[in-house]
Amino acid sequence: MNFEIKSMDLSAAAAGKADALVILVPQGFGPVKGVLGDLIGAVLKAGDFEAKAGKLLAMYNVAGVAAKRVVLAGCEAGTARQVRQAVSAAVTALKVPNVRRLLVCFAAPADDAALRMAVQAAADASYVYTTTKSKPEPRALAEVVLGVPDAAPSQAAFALAVATVRGVELAKEWANRPGNHATPTLLAGAARELGKMAHVQCEVLGPRQVAKLGMGAFMAVARGSEEELRFIVLRYTGAPKNEAPTVLVGKGITFDSGGISIKPAPEMDEMKYDMCGAASVLGVFRSLAELKPAINVVGLIPSCENLPDGRAVKPGDVVTSMSGQTIEILNTDAEGRLVLCDALTYAERFQPRAVVDIATLTGACVIALGGVRSGMFASTDALAASLSTAGDDAMDLCWRMPLDEEYADGLKTHFADVANVGGRPAGAITAAKYLQRFTAKYPWGHLDIAGTAWKGGAAKGATGRPVPLLLHFLLAQAPAQGTTADAAKAPAGKRASAARRKV
Ligand code: BES
Ligand code: MN
Ligand code: ZN
Repeated sequence: MNFEIKSMDLSAAAAGKADALVILVPQGFGPVKGVLGDLIGAVLKAGDFEAKAGKLLAMYNVAGVAAKRVVLAGCEAGTARQVRQAVSAAVTALKVPNVRRLLVCFAAPADDAALRMAVQAAADASYVYTTTKSKPEPRALAEVVLGVPDAAPSQAAFALAVATVRGVELAKEWANRPGNHATPTLLAGAARELGKMAHVQCEVLGPRQVAKLGMGAFMAVARGSEEELRFIVLRYTGAPKNEAPTVLVGKGITFDSGGISIKPAPEMDEMKYDMCGAASVLGVFRSLAELKPAINVVGLIPSCENLPDGRAVKPGDVVTSMSGQTIEILNTDAEGRLVLCDALTYAERFQPRAVVDIATLTGACVIALGGVRSGMFASTDALAASLSTAGDDAMDLCWRMPLDEEYADGLKTHFADVANVGGRPAGAITAAKYLQRFTAKYPWGHLDIAGTAWKGGAAKGATGRPVPLLLHFLLAQAPAQGTTADAAKAPAGKRASAARRKV
């Protein structure tokens, strides 16, 4: 999908060549001259249209308007949230084969956040999954032109939104693919593709290398599957090499049956989404390659299937993690923390400024926060604040959860250093407490995206979250807005003094 931003008023919008024209109408829309101004004034006066967010009025063949279809979309006060709702409703209504080029026009000036949401909502509402259909009906919408009163000051926000869309769509694509079309090996292939982009490198480790590293917890999960595990290492180098990276770790369970502690059959298919953390890491790298910020980022993806088998790990088995800590696997369905803990230990070698893992980790997090906010945990207040702010800025919300030591009590066992489950109460927190044991060497954040990464039911599909949050979080660490990887190659002294924000 192609995006453009242009300066235009309502008269230019009326003349604009497009299959459909969406006009975002704020409350208190004043008299504006011209055919569209008259039209909006008339329908508001007649009470046939309200500028409330989500309200639409669709018209066809309006005299004096070049686009055949005109949709008025109320956006109330024009907040980012309201614009998102308005564009989402309008683009959903226009999801028909003939609408290929769409013009979305702001009747009043919009702030950067509202503009970003218009781009992202248009992409989101028009997205279609096609990969495993035999007669795919691809997305009709191919071009979105954003019309704003003055485009010049909004270029950076627009570029950020377009890059976010690229990342979100890559994440959705891999998340939505069925388990047999998104194996660990295929995920590694997707990462290798990203490795061809400027400033991105990819390395993939297989079973032998992972065994040599001593990742006994990760290997235990992979034992029950015929599919070989993969450990994916992505690097984005936009700043000088000696600058400490931020490490993202994405849970990459390409199918979670629960293993020997097998899950019930209903909705088990949704466990193809158990690699949404991994998909979000791939998505973020796609966005970084587009934006080229002057930062360093490492992405780690431990990927395998969790299946029952004669060779599968059994409840009660004790394994040794890469950290040296022994783990009693009391429930093989608590496998995410097992693959993540070894990746968190591996992360130490980068001497990172911070490590954030992203995982569809617990059903308990879905019960706690539903699909609105991701669960967020952090070992420092500064990192928690950065993640929380990033979520707010990106409108990809998260909510901080506690890490009191008492929550770790249930993880005690007589037979190993730690057990992999701690009972039913506060399940999202005990999972985080387990992970925290492996993160002593750096500031650590954890996003439990079990409720937010995909939608179930009739609207089943990946959301691409939390790519927007992660991208905002990483960009907030760049030395100055607008600084690109290529500019960062200049000698350090010549660069704007990097007053780095502490995480
Ligand atoms: N991938 C699941 C978590 C999950 C479940 C996400 C449902 C979204 C919807 C994870 O591997 C898991 O099975 N967790 C168990 C942990 C339990 C055994 C302590 C859970 O949440 O039930
Ligand atoms: Mn599980
Ligand atoms: Zn899982």
